[in-house]
Amino acid sequence: MNIPRSIRNLVLGGFMGSGKSSVGRLVAAQLRFRYVDTDELIEQRAGKTITQIFTENGEPFFRELEAQVVAELAQYENAVISTGGGMTANEANLASLKQHALVICLWASPETIWERVRHQSHRPLLRDPDPLEKIRKLLTARAPFYKQADALVISEGRSVKEVAQHVIHQFHLARRQVTSP
Ligand code: S3P
Repeated sequence: MNIPRSIRNLVLGGFMGSGKSSVGRLVAAQLRFRYVDTDELIEQRAGKTITQIFTENGEPFFRELEAQVVAELAQYENAVISTGGGMTANEANLASLKQHALVICLWASPETIWERVRHQSHRPLLRDPDPLEKIRKLLTARAPFYKQADALVISEGRSVKEVAQHVIHQFHLARRQVTSP
């Protein structure tokens, strides 16, 4: 028996630098949904930046805050939710998000990700002597989770607008499937 899914929101997951925020903002504007960024929610709750949380409290504490935000998201409606790169690399988070949202992960190669993030300094996980190698390792470990999303959309070699179009197409398709008898 197929249990019908409730798709009230759209979650964008995937690795750092895969385009979640820029694509998410555009998709939200086009769907006339509200835009939510889970890292921003965590920063507001904690009263400090992600970098400060990692340095002062450690990654496990950050993951706890992340799990709390995942639970809160179940109350949302008509939201495009852009997630931190680790949120959808977790079985329990994925299962919870799929209760109320279509989960789409964006995908790019480690080299492209590195090109996109190399001049940014706010990602504690990439403070490493060999950040490209760190991206490769993390991406390999996370790929099996990202592949459990409802859809994987390649952002490599595509403009933000093109990726947004693919995402919106998947969303409309899924909502039609859910609402049709
Ligand atoms: C993380 C990605 C970051 C942020 C934190 C941890 C990760 O978000 O949540 O630094 O584990 O990949 P972005 O994907 O928005 O950079």
